[in-house]
Amino acid sequence: MKKVKITWPNNKNSNCFPGIGWLDAACEAKIEIPTGCLGGSCGACEIEVNGEVIRACIATVPDKKELKVEFFSDPYW
Ligand code: FES
Repeated sequence: MKKVKITWPNNKNSNCFPGIGWLDAACEAKIEIPTGCLGGSCGACEIEVNGEVIRACIATVPDKKELKVEFFSDPYW
């Protein structure tokens, strides 16, 4: 299986296998994604992956060659 190249908000790169959870991928890259419920309902862990907002606690790394991650900040918080 090919690894996915991930660029994190601090411009660090890491490589991980597709299909692992985003929180694990972040942990491996020593990036901390804020979390709350860990069940997909609070939105604390939202990140933007290639411009698409996902909830890191319930989403997995898709099988793409390269992904760019941004922290998603909700302007109403
Ligand atoms: S931690 Fe609550 S939605 Fe992910």
